[in-house]
Amino acid sequence: MAKMRVVQVAKAGGPLELVEREIPVPRAGTVRIKVQACGVCHSDSLAKEGRWPGLQYPRVPGHEVVGVLDAVGTGVAGWTVGWRVGVGWHGGHCGRCDSCRRGDFFACQEALQVTGITYDGGYADYMIAPIEALAAVPDELSGVEAAPLMCAGITTFNALRNSGARAGDVVAILGLGGLGHLGVQFAAKMGFKTVGIARGKDKEPLARKLGAWHYIDSQTQDPAAELAKLGGAKIILATVTNGDAMSAALGGLGVNGTLLVVGAPKSIEVSPGLLITGRRSVKGWYSGTSIDSQEALAFSALSGVRSMNEVYPLERAAEAYERMMSGKARFRVVLTTGN
Ligand SMILES: NC(=O)c1ccc[n+]([C@@H]2O[C@H](COP(=O)([O-])OP(=O)(O)OC[C@H]3O[C@@H](n4cnc5c(N)ncnc54)[C@H](OP(=O)(O)O)[C@@H]3O)[C@@H](O)[C@H]2O)c1
Ligand SMILES: [Zn+2]
Repeated sequence: MAKMRVVQVAKAGGPLELVEREIPVPRAGTVRIKVQACGVCHSDSLAKEGRWPGLQYPRVPGHEVVGVLDAVGTGVAGWTVGWRVGVGWHGGHCGRCDSCRRGDFFACQEALQVTGITYDGGYADYMIAPIEALAAVPDELSGVEAAPLMCAGITTFNALRNSGARAGDVVAILGLGGLGHLGVQFAAKMGFKTVGIARGKDKEPLARKLGAWHYIDSQTQDPAAELAKLGGAKIILATVTNGDAMSAALGGLGVNGTLLVVGAPKSIEVSPGLLITGRRSVKGWYSGTSIDSQEALAFSALSGVRSMNEVYPLERAAEAYERMMSGKARFRVVLTTGN
């Protein structure tokens, strides 16, 4: 049997380790992808640290996967060997139960599949994915360019396009990491008055280059007061991993403004008075389905939105993951297989 390399976690909190496995054969309704690139997302820490109920080990993380469709299982129609495809966080749902038909995929009666969590993901030479998880990748985007769009991209693109903000509205992107730096670009391309908020002055030139109209350094300025000076934000897209940072920006929402939470700290503190008096709201958003990914890829190809990446070979995945977790990466870390 031919072998492949995967980077797996053997137990909750264990290290990322490079091992050999047999190349898997796709079951009915699934395809095999020869992985070209896989982004390293902060949410990979859920698999690495065991912060997902019922997670089984060993597990291969990675849900920003782009590669070439390499083999198909029985019953797969409409997807052809040789096509370039991407797989994101949303790893499939049944599509038949009442919950799925309502769009409540987390309550799918056959259980929502999550790439790199409920099945093995893209820190590998090959992976298997159900067809519901596949997005077509446009020719204009290389594997390394497309991979971060499969989670960081779709999440910020989809949250913003469904946020209710209109061209010319003040939209702030809180945090300039993997998600945030794409959020700034999408917001600018969608025609919002885009405000970047991050820790430190050093990110300002990059934020402006990515399309920010205004920058707030959350270490030396009060983000709520600064946003209020701009008339208040219609949307604050919160991509940070820290709850206090979200709470500190909340007061910068204008009347009817929304804190749109995509970053996942343990908790956030919210003042009911602030919500009530300005009819403000706090709302969550999770990435989206494969068609949303496909639309995020197409919009990026069209508008020139691109992730800024630090590229590591697959065998250095542990180092790449630590680089992402350090917060020092500018801005997404991407693994390549050489395939
Ligand atoms: N909702 C979804 O569907 C979805 C999808 C993907 C990821 N996520 C979640 O989104 C979050 C961001 O993911 P990512 O991959 O973009 O992570 P990342 O690249 O590591 O970026 C982390 C961000 O958090 C900020 N941050 C970290 N520590 C902080 C602190 N102590 N105080 C204030 N800010 C702090 C950083 O802010 P600075 O820029 O100021 O340094 C940075 O912008 C994670 O919680 C991840 O699990 C959610
Ligand atoms: Zn992710």
